[in-house]
Amino acid sequence: MKTQLALPITKVQNSRLPEIDFSNLVFGRTISDHMFVADYKDGEWSDLRIEPYGPLSLNPANATLHYGQSIFEGMKAYRNDDGKILVFRAEANWRRLNESAERMCMPELPEEIFMEGLTQLIDLDRDWVPSAKGASLYVRPYMFATDDYIGVKPSETYKFIIFTCPVGNYYSKPVSVKVETKFTRANEGGTGAAKTAGNYAASLYPALQAQKAGYDQLLWTDGKSHSKIEESGTMNVMFKINGKLITAPTNTGTILKGITRDSVIQLAKEWNDPLEERFLTVSELETALIDGTLDEAFGTGTAATIAHIQRINVNGKDYILPAKSEDAFSYRVLAELDGIKYGHAADQHGWIISI
Ligand code: COI
Repeated sequence: MKTQLALPITKVQNSRLPEIDFSNLVFGRTISDHMFVADYKDGEWSDLRIEPYGPLSLNPANATLHYGQSIFEGMKAYRNDDGKILVFRAEANWRRLNESAERMCMPELPEEIFMEGLTQLIDLDRDWVPSAKGASLYVRPYMFATDDYIGVKPSETYKFIIFTCPVGNYYSKPVSVKVETKFTRANEGGTGAAKTAGNYAASLYPALQAQKAGYDQLLWTDGKSHSKIEESGTMNVMFKINGKLITAPTNTGTILKGITRDSVIQLAKEWNDPLEERFLTVSELETALIDGTLDEAFGTGTAATIAHIQRINVNGKDYILPAKSEDAFSYRVLAELDGIKYGHAADQHGWIISI
């Protein structure tokens, strides 16, 4: 049997758990008692520990604050009916973290540190995993530069932290999106595929304009021609047109390799639902909205899960999507993924670790 990494654990003196209203969770506002921390210096990760969640001390010259060497992941843990905690696709998150790290000149994080930090932290704070339908423990692993140096170069020291938050739905109702053809999220050769803080910072201004106009999110288009749909601000996107699912490919380096996206694609293939990984053009989308061949549009993401899209603005005009039938792909895939995550359906893909 694999031995556990011996992590020093400092527990909180008074848990905040009794203060939490689990029936009223706002996404990302409630943080659990503990966090896992590891420090990188002299070419290796050391000082692995679990300690009370709390403020960090940073020097004003901290490199992340100036140049944004910062990457993160989002994953979820679920409580099953037997009280076990099930973590969804942790290995995929670990792999993607390291892909982002490579692009951002940050050190690789060994799998053992990621997995041991993750599982021991979740085990310690297992009472924070909600049990209500649709609720889960959102897990936020992230890494950032800690050098105190304001020259522009990769930092030589880093911190890796995992903390967790009990959450409900990110979107509590179907979303409205606007096709963005002026601002750009990512260009080929840029950092679009990396889960790095700057991508999110750059998206805030355009997203805010759309939110002021009544939309929840943008549908980003390619940076060169603004004619091809890429992804949305918090999720990848999929469309079902004339019975065929279409989602943007991830080989341009401009699109986040979503783990929910990948899970949906795997299930669609197993179910023989026709699916194309190709760019949907804005004009194809507009035509499908006008002639009624757009059956479904939905986002896929860890936080967003499967988020139904109800309204799309293309070229200044709003289109409301038709009501979906009960056997719509997005309902089926949401039910199957929820079944796997909450332990009601068989985990045939090896996606779950149980704690
Ligand atoms: C996630 O889905 O985990 C993300 O990182 C998206 C974030 C905007 C909440």
